Amino acid sequence: TPKGSCLESVKIAIDTGYRHIDGAFVYYNEHEVGQAIREKIAEGKIKREDIFYCGKLWNTCHPPELVRPTLEKTLNILQLDYVDLYIIELPMAFKPGDAIYPKDENGKIIYHETNLCATWEAMEACKDAGLAKSIGVSNFNRRQLEMILNKPGLKYKPVSNQVECHPYFTQPKLLEFCRQHDIVIVGYSPLGTSRDETWVNVSSPPLLKDPVLNAIGKKYNKTAAQVALRFSIQRGVVVIPKSFNPQRIRENFQIFDFSLTEQEMKEIEALNKNVRYVELLM
Ligand code: A2P
Repeated sequence: TPKGSCLESVKIAIDTGYRHIDGAFVYYNEHEVGQAIREKIAEGKIKREDIFYCGKLWNTCHPPELVRPTLEKTLNILQLDYVDLYIIELPMAFKPGDAIYPKDENGKIIYHETNLCATWEAMEACKDAGLAKSIGVSNFNRRQLEMILNKPGLKYKPVSNQVECHPYFTQPKLLEFCRQHDIVIVGYSPLGTSRDETWVNVSSPPLLKDPVLNAIGKKYNKTAAQVALRFSIQRGVVVIPKSFNPQRIRENFQIFDFSLTEQEMKEIEALNKNVRYVELLM
């Protein structure tokens, strides 16, 4: 994002009423997010405890001894004392070091052998130290979740699993599994992504052009985006829509003054194509 635009967007979001902020070291804008939160606290608009900040452990930092220092680095960038949620961003590890995407001479990612359960124990220690109020995971499938849940001596279960989730990729099986285990699904790309070809599978059609979402929106005087977000929260999926546009930031918050009927929920569920926009091919 251009310098300053994240700062402005987060401040507008907080003024609009957003409290959950989804961040990560690899977004390279945590300093602006932290500044926005601190400015809004200084203004008296919010207190620190009103904000729910989620930070993420990147793939190059999975070795247990790197987990706490990595979180401390994020806290230092944010200039906050704790994050509300710290999650393992992906279930695969890359070679530790300065390169975010370490590659060999053929341009292939250099992976790193680590043990997800050992990484999880280091996450638990961050919670015990008060640096993270809660801990969770992201992009974990059922098998990977079970590895953690079945770990001997497990101290804390993951509270959440952040995965792609929207009307074209509804995750029915994972959602059911997570419900059974009290794990909240946080749905990323709830609007169908920015369709940036460098990381998005654009062969799947644009979600917000969907005729069903638009027709239902018309009935309630809402946009397809608002219907998509409402659909997710109504089935218990947390949404983290992304926008750097003040009007759309406000639009995406106007989803608490209408509800979808059971029939409409079913119609939208039937749009599931079981195809990801974010394939994470690495
Ligand atoms: P912009 O920042 O210009 O608003 P996702 O949350 O699924 O990753 O989608 C993010 C993309 O959707 C961004 O490109 C964002 O662009 C766009 N977007 C966000 N809110 C809306 C909206 N209400 N209507 C249409 N596009 C939106």
